[in-house]
Amino acid sequence: MAIVVITGSNSGFGLAAALAFARNGDTVVATMRDPTRATTLREALAAEELEADVRSLDVTKAGTFADFFSGVVRDHGRVDVLVNNAGILRPGALEDISEEALRLTMETNAIAPLLLAKAVLPIMRKQEAGYIIMISSLSGIAGLPGDVAYTASKFALEGSTEALRHEIDRWGIKVALVLCGMYATGIFAASKNKDELLPAGYPMNSVYRPFVVSRLAEIHARLPEAFSPSVVGNLLVDVANSDGSRLRWSADPVAERVLATMFAHSDAERDEFLRNVGGSDWWSDGELQPPEPK
Ligand SMILES: NC(=O)c1ccc[n+]([C@@H]2O[C@H](COP(=O)([O-])OP(=O)(O)OC[C@H]3O[C@@H](n4cnc5c(N)ncnc54)[C@H](OP(=O)(O)O)[C@@H]3O)[C@@H](O)[C@H]2O)c1
Repeated sequence: MAIVVITGSNSGFGLAAALAFARNGDTVVATMRDPTRATTLREALAAEELEADVRSLDVTKAGTFADFFSGVVRDHGRVDVLVNNAGILRPGALEDISEEALRLTMETNAIAPLLLAKAVLPIMRKQEAGYIIMISSLSGIAGLPGDVAYTASKFALEGSTEALRHEIDRWGIKVALVLCGMYATGIFAASKNKDELLPAGYPMNSVYRPFVVSRLAEIHARLPEAFSPSVVGNLLVDVANSDGSRLRWSADPVAERVLATMFAHSDAERDEFLRNVGGSDWWSDGELQPPEPK
């Protein structure tokens, strides 16, 4: 059974994924920045007589990643799956977002998943196997106003994962992007300030305030009918057990519809086009030299 590392496992998709992989019989390394907040996860696991190895990992602390993965290999022998799930949302118009919020969003949602992948790749290359799964978003393929920071981070994650794919497939390492509609998780509560919909410190006199508030009000009004995070948790187990031929996975009908609208071509057509343009087939096939020009 697989050794599965998940980031941000104390709530939302991360918690649902930890439960789903544990139910599947996999060994779950459930990471979170504050392991004292693992109570909900531990109780949910215990209710089904399941277990997870809870470890501390702050995804913005890249200096700790090498030691973290060495520890996992020392204790579990290998790393089969990395689920890059941890993420934050800092809604707001570009003029209103602080530089700090913009940088933290990029750091957490886009740079951390790549640096975690970079840290685990030597292990997966040695194993000649592994799966890196990125939790993306519809904001990674469609930009909506009032959400520039989050959109920037998820577009970066989408593009970089697509680029990474054929760098590492020659070692049997697979990557996937999971796209989700709207789910009732902690991310929306964490992004607002108490009873206000806007994050703490949002400029009182912003000209964008009415627009951003109305967008957030619409999102929060739709939350009660949002999908359950368990849908994503279960899908992640399917992705981890798939053959890697598919890059983008939609978790629900909303994601499916947006993907179909924003991507005129199928995943396979897009992949073929990119492989041709990138000229990467020989590399993917494990050759050391490009073919002689015809
Ligand atoms: N909910 C949706 O509708 C939706 C839709 C599409 C994509 N997503 C994506 O799904 C992923 C999970 O979010 P969620 O919806 O499940 O929200 P969530 O319940 O708020 O979970 C986010 C997790 O990320 C963790 N996290 C944040 N910063 C971290 C850091 N520096 N180091 C380690 N962990 C950190 C949080 O930990 P703390 O509790 O310590 O903050 C939390 O465990 C995110 O990448 C999000 O962008 C969500």
